[in-house]
Parts: sequence; structure tokens; C-alpha cells
Amino acid sequence: MNHWLNQAGRPLIIGHRGASAHAPENTLAAFMLAQAQGADGVELDVMRCATGEVVVIHDDTVNRTTDGEGRVRALSLAALRRLDAGNGERIPTLDEVITATAGAPRPFLLNIEVKNYATPFDGLERLVVEVVRRHGCEDRVLFSSFNPLAVRRLAQLAPDIPRGILYHHGMPVHLREVWMAPLVPHEFRHPDIGLITPAFVAKLKAQGKRVNTWTVNERADIVRAATSGVHGIIGDSPLAIREALGI
Ligand code: G3P
Ligand code: MG
Repeated sequence: MNHWLNQAGRPLIIGHRGASAHAPENTLAAFMLAQAQGADGVELDVMRCATGEVVVIHDDTVNRTTDGEGRVRALSLAALRRLDAGNGERIPTLDEVITATAGAPRPFLLNIEVKNYATPFDGLERLVVEVVRRHGCEDRVLFSSFNPLAVRRLAQLAPDIPRGILYHHGMPVHLREVWMAPLVPHEFRHPDIGLITPAFVAKLKAQGKRVNTWTVNERADIVRAATSGVHGIIGDSPLAIREALGI
């Protein structure tokens, strides 16, 4: 059974891009810190670089999060490796993150956001599934994407690995209300915290969906998410989530 479906009797605590409030986002340091802060798992963003590896980074370019410049998809893994992603951290590959988080006493959950929004036909879904299969870590992985077609492709490639559809309150109505849902096999919804009310969560649960919400950093929002009955809270500080929930 996939561990994302093993509810702990409380919301899962998930570090957004790792413990990104206290370490450079999407780096091994941030993922290890999330573990140390008592998170159940982390959310991470993945893209394909020029040489075909799956790398963990949020933006289309390296400009904001590193000391370099250029598009991720135009840079080789070797070139990406040379960059400083903060405090001397390097941009990790998905391989490395899976290896670094393996063997924990409690399986450390990975929410892999498939981020080929600018290049939706670059084959990223297939590459990501290959990496997960190679490690045999299917039982701690949950895929997500804002692109319903990417979620649909993941369902076809790996029907055994759960999937979530991402959306937020500022999106056009067809995305905000997930009109494509019937065509996209998925177990989870990932609405932003702006959409979360008890009634909203109850409605999704009645449809058989689980709900993980993001990016939840304020104490009042963490409490509201929990009292609304979400299954998982994705935030920059697992520590802050634990404190707000009193666990
Ligand atoms: O997966 C939740 C969240 O990460 C989606 O937005 O832009 O932070 O990747 P973003
Ligand atoms: Mg993300």
C-alpha cells in the first residue's frame, strides 16, 4: 500500500521544496532538514535538463535560485552541477533525493511535482517514472501537476503510483473547478490554501478524493487547514506546522 494513503489520524506534514523556510529550496539540505524537523515528507519540483536527467528545481531558469544564468532545459547536468544553489548546495537530481531520503525509520514521503509546464511534451513523465521504478520507491511517491494532461500521462505510465491535480484560487474557472477531472484518474486534489474551507474539503471527500493543500505558512492557515479536514499540509516550515498543530 502506498504510504500517502496511510492516514496518520492527523494531517501529514510536508515540507514545501523541503524545509525551504530554513534552507535553500529544493536542495538536499532542505530535504534533510525537513526530515530533522519531523516532517512526514517533502514536496519537490522536477524538470528535465539538456542532457536528459531529471533535476530538482522550481523555475524554468536557474537565475533566481543559483549563482548562474540560463534555462534549465538548455543546460547540461554538468553545467547545472557547477552552480551554487545556496550555502554551497548543488542542484540535486531526483535520483539523489530518493537515495538521500531512503532507509528512514518511517518511509519518507515524496510529492514529486512534474514541472514541464513550458515544455509539456518533453517526455519528463516517462523519465520520472523510470527513476522511481529504478529505486523501487513507488510506495512513498505521489505525483502532482498543474497540467491535467501530465497527470493523465502519469496515470497511463504508472497506474500504481497515486496522483494529485494542482490548482489555485486565481486560476480560470475550468482549471479551478477541475473540469477535466473525469478524464484524469487521480486520488488527490492539491488546492491552494485560498480555496480551503470545511465545506470545500467535505465536498471533495464525498467525491472520494484526498486533499493536500499548499503553501501553508501562517499559523492561522495551518489551523484552518487542519480543522477543515485536509489530509496533508504542505508548507515551507514543517516545524511551524508541527507547532501550530501541537505535535
Ligand atoms: O505543489 C505545491 C506547490 O509547490 C505548487 O506551486 O509554484 O510552489 O511549485 P509551486
Ligand atoms: Mg511545487
